[in-house]
This record gives sequence, C-alpha cells and structure tokens, in this order.
Amino acid sequence: MLINKLPFLKKKSSEEIRTLKPDNIPEHVAIIMDGNGRWAKKRGLPRFAGHKEGMDNVKKVVKTANKHGLKVLTLYAFSTENWKRPKPEVDYLMKLPMDFLSTYLPELIEENVQIQTIGEFDLLPDHTKKAIQEAKDKTVKNNGLILNIALNYGSRYELVQSIKKTVTDIQNGKYSVEEIDENVISDNLYTSHLKDPDLLIRTSGEIRLSNFLLWQSAYTEFWFTDALWPDFSEALFEQALLDYQNRKRRFGGI
Ligand code: FPP
Repeated sequence: MLINKLPFLKKKSSEEIRTLKPDNIPEHVAIIMDGNGRWAKKRGLPRFAGHKEGMDNVKKVVKTANKHGLKVLTLYAFSTENWKRPKPEVDYLMKLPMDFLSTYLPELIEENVQIQTIGEFDLLPDHTKKAIQEAKDKTVKNNGLILNIALNYGSRYELVQSIKKTVTDIQNGKYSVEEIDENVISDNLYTSHLKDPDLLIRTSGEIRLSNFLLWQSAYTEFWFTDALWPDFSEALFEQALLDYQNRKRRFGGI
C-alpha cells in the first residue's frame, strides 16, 4: 500500500519492463559476431557456410538497428589475430565484404546507411579495399545509421598507433607532455569521430573482449548470449536493448 503512495518506489509493471523506451536507445552498439564456425559444425557444414550465414545475418541486424534508431553499429568482422587462420578461411573472410556489398549495398543506400570502417585498411587485399571504398564513397552523404565494420582491427595495435602519433606530436612541438590527456589519446584512435559504445554484445557464449575496443569500452554495458552469430535474431537484439534500458549507468558516480 505504502508503495502505491510513493510513485518513485512503485514497482515497474512487466509491460513497462518489456517495452523498449524510444528515449533510451543506445546510440552506439558494438557487436562481437562469434560462433559462425560452430553454427556450421552443428549442421555438418564447412566453416565457410557459417560465415556466409553470418554475413546474411549482418543485414538483418542492420535492419533492426535502423528500426530502433541506433546511430552507430560497429561490427567486429576480422581481427588482427584472424590472419592466423588457415589461408582458405582468411581468403574467404576477405571476400565477404565484397559479397555483402554486392548483395546488399542498394538496400543499404535506400535505408540511408553510411558505411565506415575501423582497423588497418591499407593492409587489406586490394579487392576488399576496392569494394569497401566504393561503398564508402556511395554512402558518404547518407545520414542514417553508421555501419562501422571493424576489419583488420586490433585494439592494442590501435592504442600503440595512438601513442606513437602522440609522441610524434610532442616531438613536433604540438603538445607538451603535461598537455597529454584522455582526449589526446582518443583523438588519435580510429574511432576519434564516434561516441564510445553504450552497449557491447558478444554472441556464442564466450565472455571476453578479444582485443576489441579496449579503450572505448571503459564505461560500456556488456551483454552476452549463448546464441551463435547466425542465430542472433531480432528478438535477441531487442532483448539486449531492453536489458540495457534496465541498467543503471553511473559512470563512476553514485
Ligand atoms: C568469429 O566466429 C567470426 C568471424 C571471425 C567472422 C565474422 C564475420 C561475419 C559474421 C561476416 C562479416 C560480414 C561482413 C559484412 C564483412 P568464428 O568463425 O570464429 O566461430 P567459431 O568460434 O564458432 O569457430
């Protein structure tokens, strides 16, 4: 009874908890898309089949991100460590951006999506770079969702590059050592123009960051699911968004 008289103590109804609030949608969601290989293995298929299914799921996830008005969706598609995989798999993964864009770019353009990437772009094979550069050029004026693909991305490498750039700037007299702060480091990361992720999702039951956005995720909310990436559905994505809305983000305050 007392609870009903004190609105701020009132328990949330299950409906309130289940409905996504449009005013608290995370602006930037980052996803570690894991489990393509296991998805394929479970079906007696080669790993490539899992990656292909995972690629098609990217389009579905972009649609859901757009539906809820996310501003940035960063997807971990290939890490600096993924070069260690067998060459045929690496070659296949390097072909995926081309396949993805040749299939879905017209729809992405229609949906006002802008393609960006993070990672060491110059070290990608020429055909991968060409397909992505074309997509970037064709979508540069779009002002809807930023689909930010992490390709040949490694967070430690990114930090080392940022530190090197900062040291060079000091040597060139741009800053003094005392002037170096968090903003200087952030400004020299691939993500300098993006807000830090509000929510980071990882599929496939693994609970680690695997060298993804280490600096940028200092205050990010994490959400893990056992679902393998090709099975990561709209309903699961919405569950992650709902759980995010029920978190209390304090950024170190009270
Ligand atoms: C990790 O799962 C996944 C990858 C290394 C590749 C992820 C790539 C995609 C989902 C498609 C990319 C799409 C675009 C648009 C570029 P895994 O293969 O290591 O799975 P496992 O842990 O079950 O073996």
